[in-house]
Amino acid sequence: MAKIFITRKIPEVGIKMLRDKGYEVDVSEKDGALTKEELIKALHKKKYDAILCLLTDIIDADVYDAAPSVKIFANYAVGFNNIDTEEAKKRGIVITNTPEVLTETVAEHTAAMILAVVARIAEGDRFTRAGKYDGWAPMLLLGMNLKGKTLGVVGAGRIGFVTANIMSAGFGMNIIYFDIKKNEKFEKKTKAEFRENIEDILREADIVTLHIPLLDSTRHLINEEKLKIMKPTAYLINSSRGAVIDESALVAALRKKQIAGAALDVYENEPKLADGLAELENVVLTPHIASATMETRGKMSEIAALNIIAFLKGNIPPNAV
Ligand code: GLV
Ligand code: GLV
Repeated sequence: MAKIFITRKIPEVGIKMLRDKGYEVDVSEKDGALTKEELIKALHKKKYDAILCLLTDIIDADVYDAAPSVKIFANYAVGFNNIDTEEAKKRGIVITNTPEVLTETVAEHTAAMILAVVARIAEGDRFTRAGKYDGWAPMLLLGMNLKGKTLGVVGAGRIGFVTANIMSAGFGMNIIYFDIKKNEKFEKKTKAEFRENIEDILREADIVTLHIPLLDSTRHLINEEKLKIMKPTAYLINSSRGAVIDESALVAALRKKQIAGAALDVYENEPKLADGLAELENVVLTPHIASATMETRGKMSEIAALNIIAFLKGNIPPNAV
């Protein structure tokens, strides 16, 4: 009977699917993410065949060494920058992710972040709760209209595509995008215009939204220099991975009002925030919850389980990366 370790409590549906197949499933009982040492210790306990891991687990050579019997790590996330895939490949270890199910959810959250920051929802909420509201005023917390404004999408993958679609169909925004290659389908559906380089996006867009994976080539893609290119009235939105932005440079740009504001769901050193970020009024901050709906987290659990089941049956898992 195959043995599976799940590194943290996830929605029951996937766990049940694995148990229903007769597999022995252990779920970490710690209330929180395992440290690497704790993970390695847990893996020493039994000869596991498969691991269902989370984006908070660093999966690298040390972990592979600790569990030589494990030939699949099913990541409960679409992003897999927490996993050393090169090393996995060398060792013939299969890595899977959970794409697609969370696309709409992350795009909806991104739209919510855009609305929250331009309409100053979070700021207005803090203001009102603090008892500062003393009557309607013509100049109170002025925001920005979206209709006719330009949304610059960096990364025209599934999430970028759906976000662009929501913002163009729902709010009448014009879309420009940058990606390593042109995407005809994206252009057709959203009337998006391609830009050859990210600088053009930063120069033209009223809102820049990032939908790229974290790679060596995308780390600090948005840095001090790039922030300088943005309009002083522009907003930066990030629901991808924190480290694609130099977060300290962003704090400096926001302080200087070099850009109008930002909305972030992910952080360079999460759960830590860059110094000064939390004190800024012109940012909306959410705690990496862009895919966190009941429906989607349940489906992610199912998909991670399906990948493990396929692998243990000797099939190619549907979401091998
Ligand atoms: C969440 O951030 C994911 O990559 O699924
Ligand atoms: C993820 O699903 C993406 O391609 O953006």
